[in-house]
Amino acid sequence: MESVSRLFRFTGSRSSQYDPLPLKASSDHDFAHQGYHLGLRSSWSLWKIIAVFEFLVIIVGLTFFFKPASTSGLIHPLIPDTHIFHETRVFHNSIPTHLSPYEGPPTPGIDALWDALYQGAVFRVTNNELHLLPNKTSRIAEDPTGYITTLSVFHNLHCLNYLRKNLYPDYYGVEYDLRNKTVHEHSEHCIDMLRQTHMCMPDTTPGVWQWDKGSKQAMITWDVTHTCLNYDKIHEWAASRALETYDGTIWVEGNPVHGKQI
Ligand SMILES: *[C@@H]1O[C@H](CO)[C@@H](O)[C@H](O)[C@H]1NC(C)=O
Ligand SMILES: *[C@@H]1O[C@H](CO)[C@@H](O)[C@H](O)[C@H]1NC(C)=O
Repeated sequence: MESVSRLFRFTGSRSSQYDPLPLKASSDHDFAHQGYHLGLRSSWSLWKIIAVFEFLVIIVGLTFFFKPASTSGLIHPLIPDTHIFHETRVFHNSIPTHLSPYEGPPTPGIDALWDALYQGAVFRVTNNELHLLPNKTSRIAEDPTGYITTLSVFHNLHCLNYLRKNLYPDYYGVEYDLRNKTVHEHSEHCIDMLRQTHMCMPDTTPGVWQWDKGSKQAMITWDVTHTCLNYDKIHEWAASRALETYDGTIWVEGNPVHGKQI
């Protein structure tokens, strides 16, 4: 089996493009205009319609408000609700004297912890599941009903691990040395993927300032309560359908996708 790093190999393509943000929604004026006319035409029957409408809005609002806390409200095309739920988590505030188990000079133990985060990350979806996805993916040559996929979070964690290894080229060797152009490009790619992820799913947890006796000033700290999705559950679900083998060099007839380079 190819290692996860190989499966997540960097292609060097830079294809992201963004539309400029419009300064003002073009329909703002139209909405205001319509509202004005509606006001002028007010009548008893119109007020009744509005009352019924408000009542429905309140009922729907209450239904959402009293939803059980275990459901996330996110609709994932593949992952069952029982594996996607919110939980609160107090983050580790990293300072040099208080490292998390994922930090510090490299050791085999730290490497194993990082690798375990995305063990079994590349997994199989069925033909039926494929139709639920916004984008198509490739068929598995050895498995006529299976398609290969992974989750963005696993690639992002692989990217973070890669950037971490960039800090220690003496330990990890030339494959992680930023003086090498390919390595440098891979790191740039990783940073930009992480940027897009954070702007796609912003962590809106408010930070707090606390008095720091050492430096005699208020300093920001992040060991506060964050609302999170349960990572272990999502990972567990993906790993339960992990791919044992995948040979991407085999051309599969009737693949639903064709790469840019073909
Ligand atoms: C995924 O779908 C979107 C929307 O149709 C499209 O813009 C994008 O190019 C697709 N990506 C790939 C790799 O096919
Ligand atoms: C740069 O890194 C790539 C990828 O790890 C490797 O294939 C290549 O041999 C390296 N080049 C040099 C000059 O070390």
